[in-house]
Amino acid sequence: MIDSTTKNLPRHIAIVMDGNGRWAKKRGLPRAAGHKIGADSVEAVVNTCARLGIQALSLFAFSTENWNRPKDEVSFLMDLLVRFLRDKIKTLHKNNIRFQMIGDRCGLNDLILAEVCAAEELTKNNSGLAMNIAINYSGRWDIANAAKNIAVQAAANLLKPEEICADKFREFTCLANLPDPDLLIRTSGEYRISNFMLWQLAYTELYFTTVTWPDFREKELEQAILEYTKRERRFGMISEQLAAQAK
Ligand code: IPE
Ligand code: IPE
Ligand code: MG
Repeated sequence: MIDSTTKNLPRHIAIVMDGNGRWAKKRGLPRAAGHKIGADSVEAVVNTCARLGIQALSLFAFSTENWNRPKDEVSFLMDLLVRFLRDKIKTLHKNNIRFQMIGDRCGLNDLILAEVCAAEELTKNNSGLAMNIAINYSGRWDIANAAKNIAVQAAANLLKPEEICADKFREFTCLANLPDPDLLIRTSGEYRISNFMLWQLAYTELYFTTVTWPDFREKELEQAILEYTKRERRFGMISEQLAAQAK
């Protein structure tokens, strides 16, 4: 359907992977079963993005608010993350993928942190797909953290208040080294952002599907990308201006 030569491919795709619990419930399985199969969808979308030559993929795996879930579900999700990294990192590395975690590292247990750091270290010089996993992440945390670090610099006289503008602020947010997401996908028929990348999504194209995450694979991703390629991104301008620019 689409390949790396398709016009207008997104450079950066962000995904709120949702619906694991409902996928499992529908099948009379425990929620954990949905999370487990959901990990296979992660692998599928990573491979598809790599094949299409997409620059970056950011996946929301665990929000700051997800700590409020039942204890056993939280520990299952943390174990799954550790297992995913242990099992898959060598293959990701072989495929030239650069792994990075975004989110608040305070509050994560040592086991996860060790696995995340090892994965980042192993893949840091890779030049292929940038795969970002958001763990203990919230968009408001990202913005507040940026503000805190700006304040630290200002207090140390490294930055003047009058130098702070949107472009400067951006440098202090997560993933400042990558373009903002062009496309945000949310699965499972929920129509909300749930505190994901609030700063970075300012001009992102949104795509919602009722497919639940464990069923979201290559075909579903290609469909979302195809729809994205047909969107007109005006960034405040009018169609005629874009047509003139394209000439
Ligand atoms: C997404 O699926 C996975 C995480 C948020 C970790 P859910 O677990 O939210 O599944 P639903 O929304 O309950 O179906
Ligand atoms: C958002 O999913 C967080 C992740 C996908 C990790 P949730 O299922 O937790 O979102 P809400 O709370 O229903 O909005
Ligand atoms: Mg959910």
